Amino acid sequence: MHRQLLVFFTLFSAFRFSIAASASDWRSRSIYQAVTDRFARSDGSLTSPCDPKDRRYCGGTWRGMINRLDYIQGMGFTAIWISPIVQQISGDTFEGEAYHGYWPQNIYALNPNFGTEQDFKDLVAACHSRGMYLMVDTVINHFANRGEIVNYQAFVPFSDERFFHPRCEIDWGNQTSIERCWMGNGYVSLADIDTENPTVIEIWKEYLVSFIPKYKIDGLFASTPVGISRNRFGANFLVQPMFTPKGRYGIGIRSDVICPYQEHMDSLHNYPFKELATDAFVSSAGSMAELVKVARQMQVQSKDITLFGTFMENHDNPRLGSFTTDIARLRNLAVLNILTDGVPVVYYGQEQALTGSNDPLNREALWLTGYSTTNNLVPTFTVLNTFRNYLVKSATSFITTLATYTLLSSSVINVRKGNVVLVLTNSGEGCGYRHSCQ
Ligand SMILES: *[C@@H]1O[C@H](CO)[C@@H](O)[C@H](O)[C@H]1NC(C)=O
Repeated sequence: MHRQLLVFFTLFSAFRFSIAASASDWRSRSIYQAVTDRFARSDGSLTSPCDPKDRRYCGGTWRGMINRLDYIQGMGFTAIWISPIVQQISGDTFEGEAYHGYWPQNIYALNPNFGTEQDFKDLVAACHSRGMYLMVDTVINHFANRGEIVNYQAFVPFSDERFFHPRCEIDWGNQTSIERCWMGNGYVSLADIDTENPTVIEIWKEYLVSFIPKYKIDGLFASTPVGISRNRFGANFLVQPMFTPKGRYGIGIRSDVICPYQEHMDSLHNYPFKELATDAFVSSAGSMAELVKVARQMQVQSKDITLFGTFMENHDNPRLGSFTTDIARLRNLAVLNILTDGVPVVYYGQEQALTGSNDPLNREALWLTGYSTTNNLVPTFTVLNTFRNYLVKSATSFITTLATYTLLSSSVINVRKGNVVLVLTNSGEGCGYRHSCQ
């Protein structure tokens, strides 16, 4: 415990770069993850059309989010993580528009589709006035270019080919190749930043001490860190409250692959737990034994499991509702999501039991649900967050006490964390929010 904090503060003073909240501050939080373009519009519309298949901007904004903070806070969330805020490649491509924010071109300018600089500052201030943290997704692995011929001059601040690795195709079985080669394709090239280059690191540090602090955000989420050599994080690179390897490529879901990254950054996403929890709970044939095994493995192999992000859905993976619409199964997964080890992260729309499968279908416009707070999982998450927030306040040891997982039968597990005992089953109840019980 003390060692963890010490490491953390050392990094901070070495950098003279400070995001307001520390890793241990984040541990007490419960995070709502929102794709800005899909969460809320400035006009408050509940009907503005949005077909995720089109991969186009649907009109969500920071102003729209400010106006819907009651909805997020009402469910007991104490932090929000939003999609990248910086300027993207513009216009349409064969793969649609950059509404998701993962195609940066200028990291010193904000994405005008989401509002003005004042709007963004107002969002941060609105979160802080409610006692909530704001975390911003940040792409540090690549810059984006429309088409195959890369115009490096368009990149700010990395406006020269020498800041990038030469183009090569990723071999996902080879870590060096993952770190050096390019993602993307001929329609959108994702030029891979050369993080072995000391000048590149200096330019990133300059960014972190100049651009980021002026917005007073509380945390950065580093997207696709698996594309960057491990030792470029932590002492040499960034302090990260959160990060995720891309689960969809399969490499992030092994505990022995993911855990060593915590030597270099504070937190990661618990992909192994998410994968096995989904498998275990989406049908009564799912393996609870495998879930118990991976939960224990992660506790043993990680430096500090209580700093991991515990999630069940995100923008890269099919929603739980695409596997099962059974209310009891979704509720049991919500309990695991909020009350086991780690910092809970809930992806927008999970509370509405949305059913989108793979990207781009899992990026639905939330306004089309009407932000309803009944006949969905909103009451469930509200109760769970209220309970966890109470435990955080009244018994700080709850969040640092490791859970004990016990298999009671092939379909029932017992999870004990501090004074809290959970008994969870995957037997389901045979009905969903959009179809009635027999
Ligand atoms: C792994 O990828 C790197 C970078 O592309 C390459 O130089 C190396 O030969 C590859 N190793 C193997 C075993 O394929």
